[in-house]
Amino acid sequence: MSSPDAESLLVAARATARHAHAPYSRFRVGAAVLTEQGVFTGCNVENASYGLCLCAERVALASAIAAGARRIAAVAVTCLDARADLGLAGRTPCGACRQWLLELAPAAEVWIDGEPRPFAVAELLPHGFQLA
Ligand code: THU
Repeated sequence: MSSPDAESLLVAARATARHAHAPYSRFRVGAAVLTEQGVFTGCNVENASYGLCLCAERVALASAIAAGARRIAAVAVTCLDARADLGLAGRTPCGACRQWLLELAPAAEVWIDGEPRPFAVAELLPHGFQLA
């Protein structure tokens, strides 16, 4: 994927992050996934019962799957409220989302907002669990 294409996916992720329901963490996340059916987006959706919070990446992936998309070529993730001093650690997908990426988007380029290059899923989750 070229950098302009990645940038437009990041633009979609940034726009969707503005829809985040994040009254507890005040940490807005957006994700966009590029599939054979187009782009699907997600934001984090929190709940007063904290353990029920949904991450933006998994919302976007589930949205793509629900529409019937199966080939996910690229994923863009942005954290609007990331602390600059944390660097990549403050903007990178959580462990649960990495496991979802392994299952649903194993060949995807993962573009993390602010990073100059994409990450491979195997790079984000080495030795990830698989059943088959
Ligand atoms: N969050 C995501 O949406 N994606 C991640 O990969 C990491 C964390 C959300 C969950 C919660 O709503 C907020 O960020 C703070 O953890």
